[in-house]
Amino acid sequence: MTSRADIPDRMFKIRDDFIPQERYISREFAELEKRKIWHKVWQVACREEDVSAVGDYSVYDITDQSVIVVRAGKNDIRAFHNVCPHRGRKLLEGQGKINKFHCGFHAWQWNLNGDNIRVLDQEDWQGCNDMNPEDVCLTAVRTATWGGFVFVSLDPDGESFEEFIDPVPQYVDCLELDKMTFAWALTVNLDANWKVAQEAFMESYHVWGTHPQFIVNIDEKNASTGMGRHGKHFYFYERPVGAPSRRLNKPVPDDVVTGFSAFLQSFYEQVGDENGNGQMTARSIKAAQKALETVPRDTPFPDYITIAVEAMKKKADEVGAPFPMPTAQQKADMGVDWNVFPNLGLVMSFDGCLIFRARPRGDDPNHCYLDIWSVLCWADNECPGVRRAHIDNWRDEEQKKLIPSLLIQDTGNIEFVQKGMHSLGLKGLRPNPVQERQISNFHKVINDYLLK
Ligand code: FES
Ligand SMILES: [Fe+2]
Repeated sequence: MTSRADIPDRMFKIRDDFIPQERYISREFAELEKRKIWHKVWQVACREEDVSAVGDYSVYDITDQSVIVVRAGKNDIRAFHNVCPHRGRKLLEGQGKINKFHCGFHAWQWNLNGDNIRVLDQEDWQGCNDMNPEDVCLTAVRTATWGGFVFVSLDPDGESFEEFIDPVPQYVDCLELDKMTFAWALTVNLDANWKVAQEAFMESYHVWGTHPQFIVNIDEKNASTGMGRHGKHFYFYERPVGAPSRRLNKPVPDDVVTGFSAFLQSFYEQVGDENGNGQMTARSIKAAQKALETVPRDTPFPDYITIAVEAMKKKADEVGAPFPMPTAQQKADMGVDWNVFPNLGLVMSFDGCLIFRARPRGDDPNHCYLDIWSVLCWADNECPGVRRAHIDNWRDEEQKKLIPSLLIQDTGNIEFVQKGMHSLGLKGLRPNPVQERQISNFHKVINDYLLK
């Protein structure tokens, strides 16, 4: 078993402007992450809506472990290790509905609380040790909920969830993530380390190089920072939203309202599904754009944003959808993007959020799954149907169509970065100490876990 001593000290040397690349390609490092992070940390297993009715279950696989989340009662979400205590068969896969757990090997059974309700021919064990009810029940896993997410921790003696999640709720609760439900949920196989994929959504420094179509309507220069073990990034809004990036060396035009409307349109076309639903609802985009049509072109920032938000809220009220209304101060404090350690990336918008969750795939550090979820503030029956897809080859023309075009730009980078990590010519990664500070902080926190 890999221990800290098997990994050279140089791999733990992190500065705000330096990360050793071996952390992304070393099998020993990945093995240590498995035991010290994935077997310990609070992590998102599913959304509460995945287990909305009693008996609904959702399986969460992480490294060599598997957990079943189940709704055992109206207000009772539980989780169990996905293993039969008889001879170790994995019990369930995917998602579905049950009224009891049943092992497909020798038909042992458990109720939704995990209590054993059948050991076939139990009398055969008469006189044997370790056949008490607590020995043949399912092994419970700790659960917690926040923001509509179900978190699990495989460490029965680990820290409390409240201690772990601090200070995320105080900054992010104003977005009311718990009122959002799925628009779509993709899982993409990527040939990259899970950290490369997760870090792709921890900074906006890449917008100039990766998403150049955005810079005509947004001054994308920003800053990121650690927030305890978590992190966020945020804009300064030194130029109004809708104005071109300062890097284009163009003055702020008198009319930024038109640019803001075009900025919203790019969310519809590039981050949304075929109905325009992605980081925010298509309904809100259209309502805002309609209101902006009649706004005087020289309306100052942020008045035209306020007008757009009021139009979105009015439309949401009309259709009966929730719509968060954080104060200007709450918005400024929240920023635009969070990473809840280790792998819950939240890319926020007015009435929705894109969620990025990268997970190791197998023992090879060069592979991961990237879950990309869109959750939105829907009215009842407004969602045209949740599209769920597992994309095992995102370069395949048919499968690629399921991924919003802006995110295709990101997946391309992710795999090229992983290839570069192996280069003999790479002397280490040099993150921007201002705009990519969240990433170096992320690695410092990883060290904290690995060196415990
Ligand atoms: S392994 Fe499950 S009942 Fe035998
Ligand atoms: Fe991106």
